[in-house]
Amino acid sequence: MELCLLEKYREFLPVTSQTPIITIGEANTPLVRSHTLEHELACGELYFKLEGCNPTGSFKDRGMVVAVAKAVEEKNTAIICASTGNTSASAAAYGALCNLKVFVVVPKGNIAMGKLAQAMAYGAKILAIDDNFDKALEFVRIITQKHPIALVNSLNPYRIEGQKTASFEIVDVLGAAPDYLFIPVGNAGNITAYWRGFTHYKQAGRVEDTPMMMGFEAEGAAAIVKDTIIGNPQTVASAIRIGNPASWIGATTARDESGGTIDYVSDDEIINAYHLLARKEGIFGEPASAASLAGLIKLHNNGYDFSNKRLVCIITGSGLKDPDTAINNAVPPIELPADLNILEKEILKD
Ligand code: F0G
Repeated sequence: MELCLLEKYREFLPVTSQTPIITIGEANTPLVRSHTLEHELACGELYFKLEGCNPTGSFKDRGMVVAVAKAVEEKNTAIICASTGNTSASAAAYGALCNLKVFVVVPKGNIAMGKLAQAMAYGAKILAIDDNFDKALEFVRIITQKHPIALVNSLNPYRIEGQKTASFEIVDVLGAAPDYLFIPVGNAGNITAYWRGFTHYKQAGRVEDTPMMMGFEAEGAAAIVKDTIIGNPQTVASAIRIGNPASWIGATTARDESGGTIDYVSDDEIINAYHLLARKEGIFGEPASAASLAGLIKLHNNGYDFSNKRLVCIITGSGLKDPDTAINNAVPPIELPADLNILEKEILKD
């Protein structure tokens, strides 16, 4: 049997003899080679890391399994997070597994339907506030200072520790670090975690090089790129609609130490990449996930030369999370009477 995340990378994780080894099948996600876009974007080798294949459909499960195991080890009976949706789905799942009380604070009306459905199905108490993610995070930080409820946002260092395992997997599969790693940036925990993973593997002698970290925010929420807090962030990619990233310094450190960049992509660029990923590669990622590919396309169009380079794009979450964006940005179904001739005519039109 495949080892679970807490076992497989135990030596790199804060796992002790007291830590419960829990799993619902997180990590060990596919790293697939691009079929079409690699050629169209003139890359040496292009891979997609499919983090939507995690049990709750996003990369958050890697960090959450560690954060929740440690919360249980530390005798907590309740956890809380602020979320644009994926963290809440993951917290709700692992909280349910461990019989914890789960509170999730989300921006009202701004979380994708699939994510809300998940948190509801797993039985979390959902508190939808009339403000954005940044305000929700501010509130849960205050609440966890006052009450014995474990905070499981990426401010919790165990989250970052768990998420760094994705870098290990990439190196383990490729046998080396890629030249470039493209990744969406929202609250900036994930880019911080990947960079930590690559540097820890290098320190341990498991890999010689580290990739250039290429992070992409949404244009309407590009706090790091613009070097200013965005009071009212806006983007179609609701997962990264964040104006004051908690791991801001982690992200700029990853950029600067790796010789990479943090840039932004527009909503049009995100939706274009979202469609290309689905229609040319058969990969249905959620809109925020497509920011990594959108970033690669932007740099390619700006004249970057990736020939002879090995690139990995992180596809952070499943497209099924956000059916509204899928439906609102595509041709609707053609409704027909139940008539064979009409159906046949419609099919032969193409
Ligand atoms: N992609 C997806 C699908 C996400 O859900 C997130 C963040 C990101 C990218 C950005 O990662 O925040 O580590 O820079 N989602 C958080 C949440 C904020 O609440 O689910 P980050």
